[in-house]
Amino acid sequence: MLKYILYFIIVAAVIGGIIGIVHLYRVSVRNEKEMAPYMNMSDTVHKNFGKTLIIYYSLTGHTKEIAEKIQSKTNADLFEIETQKAFPMKPILFFAVKQQLKDKNYPALKNIPDITAYDTIFIGAPVWWYTAATPVLSLLDQVDFQNKKVVPFSTQGSNAGTFLEDFKAKIKNAVVLDYASFNNIGKEYDQAVNAKIAAWLNNL
Ligand SMILES: Cc1cc2nc3c(=O)[nH]c(=O)nc-3n(C[C@H](O)[C@H](O)[C@H](O)COP(=O)(O)O)c2cc1C
Repeated sequence: MLKYILYFIIVAAVIGGIIGIVHLYRVSVRNEKEMAPYMNMSDTVHKNFGKTLIIYYSLTGHTKEIAEKIQSKTNADLFEIETQKAFPMKPILFFAVKQQLKDKNYPALKNIPDITAYDTIFIGAPVWWYTAATPVLSLLDQVDFQNKKVVPFSTQGSNAGTFLEDFKAKIKNAVVLDYASFNNIGKEYDQAVNAKIAAWLNNL
């Protein structure tokens, strides 16, 4: 009996590994295709957004990186959302977040930005379980956007799920402009990511 359990575990691990490798390969092919048009494109932004604020949450730095790239092109102020309690480490993090989403019990925040003085507000979030990270959902619950222009963006492994639909359904009193989403990709795409941001900003 023990022998069969061992066989089962080995076969499951091998199948899991193959599925993982195929998934990573497909994502990298998709990223390459998506970024190709930006490879030799200009990253200059010629648009003025008025007084601009970028609000973002970032647990592991990807969203922060995109927020800073947008900031360098818009001269915006940056506001980082912080939670009162730290999140647990992976893999417990995944279960903790799933539970928060299920219960609609989003984390308490240390700080809420004063948006009164701003004309345009970017809001960036990592995708968690195919929707916006719960600290950003917490912020959206607490802020009235006073009919200002809001530009959402996300970073994710490969699948943003219903991020935009959920964001639009949750945000209060905002004119939501075009959304951009950024997969986690290597440094070799840095210039292309800058060009993608510029194209997005110039078309807003
Ligand atoms: C709890 C959790 C859930 C996640 N869910 C998804 C997901 O549904 N789809 C996806 O493509 N990536 C998912 N990811 C990966 C993150 O979206 C991705 O790494 C993101 O860029 C992290 O942003 P940050 O470094 O700013 O925290 C998840 C990560 C965590 C921690």
